[in-house]
Amino acid sequence: ICQMPRWPWPKVIAHRCGGALAPENTLAGLAIAARSGCRAVEFDVMLSRDGVPVLIHDETIDRCASSSGTVAALDATLLMATDVGARFHPAFAGETIPSLDAALRRCRELGLAANLEIKPAQGHEVETGRVVGRRLASLGPDQRPALLLSSFSEGALEAAVAEAKNIPRGWLTDAFDAAALKTASGLGCASVHLALDGLEAAHVAAARAAGLEVLVYTVNRLPDARRLVGWGVSGLFTDRYDLLLDAIG
Ligand code: G3P
Ligand code: MG
Repeated sequence: ICQMPRWPWPKVIAHRCGGALAPENTLAGLAIAARSGCRAVEFDVMLSRDGVPVLIHDETIDRCASSSGTVAALDATLLMATDVGARFHPAFAGETIPSLDAALRRCRELGLAANLEIKPAQGHEVETGRVVGRRLASLGPDQRPALLLSSFSEGALEAAVAEAKNIPRGWLTDAFDAAALKTASGLGCASVHLALDGLEAAHVAAARAAGLEVLVYTVNRLPDARRLVGWGVSGLFTDRYDLLLDAIG
């Protein structure tokens, strides 16, 4: 697999495609992020009942759609016809859950680097990682954007990496400790993705000393962004790239 250099990545990364400016995990979000000057996005990927990777954060469609149901119990055709725009704002009515394939294609067209977060439904960790990894491995270099794989699930990330060995990856965790650095290094990660809450300068220094880039979620205020960059943080997942882009770049 051809790949982008492991680093540098753009510092400002639009969280769930379009952050607060578009319905989450949608192609509209990608378009708005790109048009606003973002060069990187993050999105969440889960499997449908029939094993198709689609962009969604929750295990159910209830929060973002106007219907309800469990993602792992619904077929891809139904998910991909599910409106997740109107609930965010009527102007986005008709915006549906995208497949991973469609999102990768659109990122590529828009010149967006993509942090693909594998977000397996509980009990589907290894299967989700394997499917996503195989999908990525099957795409030619001209069919996918610059990629960074990540997950809170070690099983999912490990399974994805086994299928797509050369794609850079990051270990995602909400608690910084020595075990997190060990897991990240064990998985051959280029980066560790840490929560803003409770993060200290010493954590960033320790991760960097272990040879890991540090990315932080979810950073929606400019003073926080400035402080983190000063600590040596390499990337910020944000819902408010409109507030961060000019100052952080
Ligand atoms: O990948 C960073 C961030 O997206 C992790 O949290 O819950 O928004 O997927 P979440
Ligand atoms: Mg995410």
